[in-house]
Amino acid sequence: MNTQPWSLRRLHAVDPALIDGLADVLIDCVDGGASVSFMHPLTRERASAFWRRVADGVATGARALLVAEDAHGICGTVQLVLHLPDNQPHRADLAKMLVHRRARRQGLGAALVRAAEAVALDCGKTLLVLDAVTDGDAARMYARLGWIRVGDIPRFALMPLGEPCSTTYFYRDLAG
Ligand SMILES: CC(C)(COP(=O)(O)OP(=O)(O)OC[C@H]1O[C@@H](n2cnc3c(N)ncnc32)[C@H](O)[C@@H]1OP(=O)(O)O)[C@@H](O)C(=O)NCCC(=O)NCCS
Repeated sequence: MNTQPWSLRRLHAVDPALIDGLADVLIDCVDGGASVSFMHPLTRERASAFWRRVADGVATGARALLVAEDAHGICGTVQLVLHLPDNQPHRADLAKMLVHRRARRQGLGAALVRAAEAVALDCGKTLLVLDAVTDGDAARMYARLGWIRVGDIPRFALMPLGEPCSTTYFYRDLAG
């Protein structure tokens, strides 16, 4: 029996209603101060345009997109970038791990990581790479889940309100 308040699934097509729900989660994360490529305030138009580009990647098979849904709609998401250079057929990047503030600290982030790892293996990918704000909530989560910390790059990006932040690279070897 599923005792969690959410269910997870991989999307193979992304319709406008799903784009809306994904935009809600992205806007909520930026409003909450997460450094996830966008500055604050993030408009719905910009957020939706981002997800339409992701939808194109899902349609071509360049990306795998997972979502978590609760009684209110999409509450979490994560992606795998599957199409990488020809000499890295075994590798994928894990990207845009987002959990809506209403659903945090209940194990959903961890469940999304584990689901993304399973999808990666299904896709023949045995090495995953990601970067996360140094010493942030996400970095702590990946370390807890067995991802290996490679190192930090100072001044890599900006927080949504403009403060520079360092990023930490992690990898996960699924080959064993
Ligand atoms: C980072 C992020 C994805 C984590 O999502 P989450 O769903 O809160 O993750 P989890 O619930 O698995 O773990 C978070 C914490 O809750 C704790 N937790 C998990 N289940 C719990 C439960 N049932 N009861 C109490 N605490 C719990 C975990 O131990 C962890 O604790 P810690 O932060 O003290 O180490 C989320 O904070 C987020 O979306 N942040 C904004 C976007 C972002 O930064 N994304 C990362 C880009 S790289």
